[in-house]
Amino acid sequence: MLKSFIVIWAFFIVFAHANIINRRNEFVFNEFDDQVLIQFQSPKTTAETIHDCGNADDILQIEYLKIAPDPPEKGHELHISAVGYLSERVLEGSYINLTVKFGMIKLLQKKLDLCEQVEKVDKTCPLERGKQTLEHTVELPKEIPPGKYYVDVQVYTPDNRRIACLKATAAFRP
Ligand SMILES: *[C@@H]1O[C@H](CO)[C@@H](O)[C@H](O)[C@H]1NC(C)=O
Repeated sequence: MLKSFIVIWAFFIVFAHANIINRRNEFVFNEFDDQVLIQFQSPKTTAETIHDCGNADDILQIEYLKIAPDPPEKGHELHISAVGYLSERVLEGSYINLTVKFGMIKLLQKKLDLCEQVEKVDKTCPLERGKQTLEHTVELPKEIPPGKYYVDVQVYTPDNRRIACLKATAAFRP
């Protein structure tokens, strides 16, 4: 349960750049665009929990990233909204280097296939160049063991150029 939660959560962080086709979400995106304008001068990442550790050379530039509630609460829904720009198409063979720590303990260190993972949020590779948006909700399990979690996500192209870098920290109370 813990492992599946972490992987789901890490997906959220990573797939903040995926496109959503669904009509209901398009409506939300419009509101979103207003927020992007308002937030244009402020730090790129508004979530306290998630920190964009990328730089200007990364293929994904995150304009806006928000999770609600922030911090996340177990046994509740977690909603994520994001807008970003890809400076090139993201192709098959791209990968995620994921590290999850629980306190001082390294819980998980994994190389995941990006395209395989995007299918879990109904996307397919290649991810097209240009503006990308994501609006998604997951239910966090009640059973998450209490403690502090650190998630480090680095996404790379097949030829090892960085697409994105994200770090997240969340503490769950008993
Ligand atoms: C990603 O992780 C793998 C395995 O842990 C490692 O060999 C590789 O160097 C990492 N890639 C980058 C670009 O850091």
